[in-house]
Amino acid sequence: MNPDGNAGFILRPWRTDDLDALLKHANDPWVPRGLSDRFPHPYTRADGQAFLAGHVVDFSDPVLAIEIAGEACGGIALRRGSGERAHGGELGYWLGRAHWGHGWMTRVVAAYLDRVVPGSGLLRVEANVLDTNPASARVLEKNGFVEEGLRRGAVCKPDGLHDLRLFGRCWPR
Ligand SMILES: CC(C)(COP(=O)(O)OP(=O)(O)OC[C@H]1O[C@@H](n2cnc3c(N)ncnc32)[C@H](O)[C@@H]1OP(=O)(O)O)[C@@H](O)C(=O)NCCC(=O)NCCS
Repeated sequence: MNPDGNAGFILRPWRTDDLDALLKHANDPWVPRGLSDRFPHPYTRADGQAFLAGHVVDFSDPVLAIEIAGEACGGIALRRGSGERAHGGELGYWLGRAHWGHGWMTRVVAAYLDRVVPGSGLLRVEANVLDTNPASARVLEKNGFVEEGLRRGAVCKPDGLHDLRLFGRCWPR
């Protein structure tokens, strides 16, 4: 049973048979522009295999594939903090370029948080957005995130230093 099915997408764990779809959507120079270096380009078969084997991100966190039209075409994950930050987590997501601009990620983030936050003890979710990524900032704003500050020159990309915009959303205790 898929709770997100009516929305036209499914959020589910990654599977080893997602490899071809993952390569099709991830191996695109536009996708990693707003992401950290952990998302490589070119995105090789070995990169995909390592990711699906759980060697890149911790699959004990809620790391889910976004399936649209029967194909995994993006991902969303929350990396939980530890110790005094265990009540918080950092959100990250990406979608294949073929699906951009149709409101998918706005709805995916809403469904993901509805699934992951209740009962988890999470009181705060944050996201860091590159200054060159207004679409991602908009996705967060439409999901109730507030822009909290700027990490100046925090990231060095091939074209130089970039600021990171910090967004946060809090839930009542
Ligand atoms: C960022 C990303 C997730 C957006 O996904 P999406 O499904 O296209 O997003 P949505 O369609 O739900 O919403 C995008 C919003 O940004 C707006 N937008 C798009 N390009 C924009 C731009 N250049 N300037 C300002 N707003 C922009 C859209 O108009 C829309 O807002 P609206 O509904 O108010 O009109 C997608 O482009 C992506 O995966 N990019 C690569 C990975 C990435 O950057 N991940 C985020 C890391 S923080």
